[in-house]
Amino acid sequence: MTLENAQKKLADFGQEHLLKYYDTLSDESKSALLAQIEKTDFGMISHIADFGKNDGRGVFSPLAAMQRDEIVRREDEFRTEGIKAIKEGKTAALLLAGGMGTRLGSDNPKGMYDIGETKHVYIFQRIIENLLDVVKETGTWIRLFIMTSEKNNDASVKFLKEHDFFGYREDKISFFTQDMAPACDRNGKIYLEAPDHLSTSPNGNAGWYSSLLKAGLGHLFKDEGIEWINIFGVDNVLQRICDPAFIGATILADVSVGAKVVRKAAPDERVGVMCLEDGKPSIVEYYELSDEMMNAKDANGDPAYNYGVILNYLFRVSALEAVADDKMPLHVVEKKIPYIDENGDLVKPEAPNGFKFEQLVLDMIHQLDTCLPYEVIREHEFAPIKNATGVDSVETARALCKLNGIVL
Ligand code: UTP
Repeated sequence: MTLENAQKKLADFGQEHLLKYYDTLSDESKSALLAQIEKTDFGMISHIADFGKNDGRGVFSPLAAMQRDEIVRREDEFRTEGIKAIKEGKTAALLLAGGMGTRLGSDNPKGMYDIGETKHVYIFQRIIENLLDVVKETGTWIRLFIMTSEKNNDASVKFLKEHDFFGYREDKISFFTQDMAPACDRNGKIYLEAPDHLSTSPNGNAGWYSSLLKAGLGHLFKDEGIEWINIFGVDNVLQRICDPAFIGATILADVSVGAKVVRKAAPDERVGVMCLEDGKPSIVEYYELSDEMMNAKDANGDPAYNYGVILNYLFRVSALEAVADDKMPLHVVEKKIPYIDENGDLVKPEAPNGFKFEQLVLDMIHQLDTCLPYEVIREHEFAPIKNATGVDSVETARALCKLNGIVL
């Protein structure tokens, strides 16, 4: 892109300040900055006007979850079906590790965080050990995709290599990086994180499918006969991955996606809840739940909107072709965004100072026709690490690990 074209593009979006240091840059840096301006979608900044609001939501109705009593009753049937699918190579796993983990406050990728007390127990290690349980049980190596971002890819790959992938077979792991989106201040002005670089942030965990295809890894689905893919976050150190019973139940229910859910701890708990929206599976955020929905009861007298998602989904690969990025809402999230100040010094803010833009994997669900919410026991499968202390923290996750007999 030429300087003139960049100036025009920036003027159209009121972002002319991004060329403030242009004249001081080397030729190489000038080209890099112009290239970044060329590929940046400045149009998304207009979304800060309706910050956090998902206008235009449809009509919500309950979506019944498969509950523990049925799962326990049919466990053998589900496990047999799931183990068969795993042994036939039909399932893969995909770790979403592109996030910045800003709430945890570590400079390293979240997976490198050590939750051990008497020995090292890294988050990546916990996740891989959980998957290795299934590998050992089925005698089958499962393809593991790992999504990183340009901000944490090198550190993540180096760390995992140094630790011999915690016993996982290297040739069964495929890394790819997700796309980035610009990050702006509260007035919609994009920050610079260096004189020649706009501040960017990973564009949300829904980017996994398009980024995987862009990275040229789509052929593995065909080559290896992968029909189902288990998507999960890096935060939850207890979750079961490629859980045979969950896989079997989802296959037998003949749906496009299975979603692990936990029973809500309280009607107003701050979790996204599985439901139908205009007759299609969806997730209603806690702040979108009306009092009427919060108090609604199902035929058994139980709360009708009672199951929260835990970011563990099993997608039918053939259904993913129907998912289009441009149909998913863009979420505007308040974040701490590093930037250079008027003296050109890098500032790492202590509190949120602007917005980043994300598409979320939960919005993919609404583009599919059918979903099985599958209940898991919270204390056994949900130990998210979002914060250093307090709710959903290293402390709470450690306590839950111990409750499940994991030595830290
Ligand atoms: P979070 O919503 O916790 O976001 O991600 P985060 O960016 O990691 O953490 P905070 O909000 O800054 O503290 C949930 C999961 O989705 C992944 C994360 O790595 C985590 O596994 N994720 C999130 C991505 O892979 N890419 C993204 O762009 C965002």
